[in-house]
Amino acid sequence: MSARMFSSSAARRTKVAVLGAGGGIGQPLSLLLKQNPLVSELSLYDIRGAPGVAADVSHVDTPSVVKGYAADKLEEALQGVKVVVIPAGVPRKPGMTRDDLFNTNASIVRDLAAAIARVSPSAHVLVISNPVNSTVPIVASTFEKAGVFDPAHIFGVTTLDVVRASRFLSQVIGAVPSECDVPVVGGHSGATIVPLFSQTKVGKAVAGEPYAKLVNRVQFGGDEVVKAKDGAGSATLSMAYAGAKFADCLLRALNGEKGVVTPTFVKSPLYADKGVDFFASLIELGPNGVQKINPVGNLTPEEQKLLEACLPDLKKNIDKGKAFVA
Ligand code: NAD
Ligand code: LMR
Repeated sequence: MSARMFSSSAARRTKVAVLGAGGGIGQPLSLLLKQNPLVSELSLYDIRGAPGVAADVSHVDTPSVVKGYAADKLEEALQGVKVVVIPAGVPRKPGMTRDDLFNTNASIVRDLAAAIARVSPSAHVLVISNPVNSTVPIVASTFEKAGVFDPAHIFGVTTLDVVRASRFLSQVIGAVPSECDVPVVGGHSGATIVPLFSQTKVGKAVAGEPYAKLVNRVQFGGDEVVKAKDGAGSATLSMAYAGAKFADCLLRALNGEKGVVTPTFVKSPLYADKGVDFFASLIELGPNGVQKINPVGNLTPEEQKLLEACLPDLKKNIDKGKAFVA
């Protein structure tokens, strides 16, 4: 973990909950959050194993307090939390799409969101559980139903797409990933993932077949891991890294740092006229969460085509999430 990733100013520290803390993502994510100086208390909840994970992580020599909560202690786990990260739910096996997880994960996410809306309605909610294109609208609609929806507080974590785009581009052009900061817009599955390589100095040069391969690898990077794990799940370690990275951006912004801008999937006006009212683009984060939603900027003709392919798929996924709650 790079030192750059975590701010050293810990003026107003924050209580953070992880729901699904016993899982493949939840465990390493909890470990990484334990290392973040902006976290004052970590509340670890799962239907299985959270007290054990909490006992283990609590021995790490940083000041934050760690508590674990068993299946029947969800409301206790959510008391006083300002940030809730949700990696609860089932992962894919080879041959499955993220949408195939909907039947299981939609109700898990809806029920967790309902509890957050009851206990900590002003919390910032970071949704990792797939299908993100649908689970984020599920959380938003659940909050809406409870009369506590604040669009500045609900985020789909798409940072793994950004991490992949940066790493894969760096490998193609022989640069270091820190020089390859690629905005990734749209959603989080297949054709809805739209990397904008033209918006990085070093990415502009990639064209033709190498460009097409690079786009495909970012859009289907998740499948690469699912296939390699061969039935044992999907990305967990890189996802924990990405989740911790996004949580750090939000924590820094909540604590007053200016100019924190990163892609994330939020309630967005950018393509609402096309019926797509959740969309990932570069978002400026501030003390209340979403501060400014940036448009996608100048696109190349190839990127314009990717965006056109993204929108109809994304609309279907969003509508499915909303219909589930309605
Ligand atoms: P996992 O099966 O290893 O862990 C999931 C955990 O959720 C388990 O510990 C399980 O007990 C827990 N859980 C199930 N129902 C729960 C409930 N009602 N309340 C609390 N906890 C509950 O799975 P994983 O590999 O950690 O993946 C979790 C989710 O994250 C999957 O849906 C996966 O597709 C998704 N994911 C998203 C991204 C992304 O980029 N957003 C990346 C990777 C994985
Ligand atoms: C990923 O992109 O790795 C995750 O969404 C998990 C998956 O199912 O691919």
